[in-house]
Amino acid sequence: MCSIIGYSGDDNAAPIIVKGLRRMEYRGYDSVGVATESNNRIELKKGVGKVEKVNSEVHLENLPGKIGIGHTRWATHGKVTEANAHPHSSNSGKIAIVHNGIIENFEKLKDDLKKEGYDFQSETDSEVIANLLQKNYEISKNVKDTMIKTISELRGHYSFIAMFDNGQLAAARFHEPLIIGVGEKNYFLSSDVLGFIEQTDDVIYIDNGNFVLIDQDKMQILDFNGKEIKHQITKVSKEFADVYKGDYAHFTLKEISEQSETIFRAGENTKEAIKEVADLLKHAKNIYFTGSGTSYNASLIAKYLLSKYAKIKTESIISSELQFSPDSIEPNSILIALSQSGESADVLEAVNIAKKTNCKIISIINSLTSTLARESDIVIGMNCGPEIGVAATKSFTSQLIILYKIIQELTDGKVEINFEEISSSISKILEEHNNIKKIANKIKEISDIYVLGRGIHYPIAIESALKIKELTYIHAEGIAGGELKHGPLALMDSNVFVIIINPEDSTYQDTLTSAREIKARGAKIIGISNKNSDMYDFWIKIPKANELTYPISETIPIQLLSYYAALEKDTDPDYPRNLAKSVTVK
Ligand code: F6R
Repeated sequence: MCSIIGYSGDDNAAPIIVKGLRRMEYRGYDSVGVATESNNRIELKKGVGKVEKVNSEVHLENLPGKIGIGHTRWATHGKVTEANAHPHSSNSGKIAIVHNGIIENFEKLKDDLKKEGYDFQSETDSEVIANLLQKNYEISKNVKDTMIKTISELRGHYSFIAMFDNGQLAAARFHEPLIIGVGEKNYFLSSDVLGFIEQTDDVIYIDNGNFVLIDQDKMQILDFNGKEIKHQITKVSKEFADVYKGDYAHFTLKEISEQSETIFRAGENTKEAIKEVADLLKHAKNIYFTGSGTSYNASLIAKYLLSKYAKIKTESIISSELQFSPDSIEPNSILIALSQSGESADVLEAVNIAKKTNCKIISIINSLTSTLARESDIVIGMNCGPEIGVAATKSFTSQLIILYKIIQELTDGKVEINFEEISSSISKILEEHNNIKKIANKIKEISDIYVLGRGIHYPIAIESALKIKELTYIHAEGIAGGELKHGPLALMDSNVFVIIINPEDSTYQDTLTSAREIKARGAKIIGISNKNSDMYDFWIKIPKANELTYPISETIPIQLLSYYAALEKDTDPDYPRNLAKSVTVK
């Protein structure tokens, strides 16, 4: 959600912090702020909008001092306003904080602090941390004791960094990510290694329930009782540094275009894990998939294909739903969690629930340094490089490729998958971009789009609708072809566009019948198929493939269509409104 960053070292803090915030903007981007300490004084600047805009307005980079903190926000408590933007300073102005997460008992804490004379400038839950720290610091006059006392009073999920006007930094982690970057003469604190990867690749992953104190060149990690914890420095892959758009206009376009290549890398960094997983699945009694958003949609395809090609029955559970029916998971089962970021709070919660009944956790993740990776028994890496655009694109196809590899293992190679052919299909579809751009222009004024598919194409219809909603803000819905006459047909008229996913396979004729019924009601039809039909007002050609690999070929044109329609509508495809890349709050 939000990103937090802190710096203490020999260089000017503000430019380093602003650079880090730019890289982490994918986590939340409705407002931004920086505070620095210089000569025992805290100075703070913030504003509404993305880093580039706010920096050009208020010159965040010019703040003085070699110690600082910064934040990009994704609003949870309170509107998107300058007052609600972080950092928040305590009433005395001697402490400033940045926070990611949710303080569940903030109302009670705020009421208590108000009774003691504290004022509040924002509607946020975060501001209570600053004033609580002030209150406890005035009593203990010691940063360590202040942190222990303050943390003991907070409920919820959080990571926060506090900066004191004596130049000390303190940060705590409780169910939200927090990582230390260790430089030669400096320390970084950040929600994500991307916040400091250009400066150092030496990192310390702070465990849940620990806090950090940084005073000049001295750094300590302690548990919430104040006991010092030994720490280990690990190296992160320099590949994280590959987060520039290059010649592409947007990350989303770059990431869509990379797929002809990223599909070769999926799972390649964890080959043994794929074999191990296939072996476990062969003998498991109960197997469940879980994920959110696009990752959940990938699990629907996994369920279908595993059943059909490996005769293995599985269930897919939306991560955020598991808490309401924890008994739907049998003890001692296998839970396969799908997550690009490995930080989605809902997914982590589902994993927690499954662990309580002794389930084995297998995860398919892009970020191998994530919390989910550390919570899992076996990890398979999507290995598709950082995905910065908020809408999941290349991570989805990498998830599918990993699934294909598991199926290959399960069937001892009897199900053969030609990855070269998939890659070449993706390249051919990417060449269709001019045709897709023209169609994007046609849908820009439309208020409702339906995406229809049958069989394996139904989950793709659901995923397509999600992509259209996210990137274009047009209402979209995935429909199983056969369900059309059970309700959605009532919505078909000349104001509606329907995308028909209709490659020539066992679903072809039935889907064409659905197209006919829709066309008779005046709706416009975009056909995605290897074969043209007079049912289609617009045709997006995909190469002939097979049932296993069509899901990938069908996804690419919808990703492109959503991207180009976003441009037509003048919305930012990389950072859709109200969304964040890593949803680390429940
Ligand atoms: C859709 C999208 C989201 C994510 C969801 C899960 O384009 O980006 O729906 O798929 O938030 O995120 P991860 O996979 O990081 O757990």
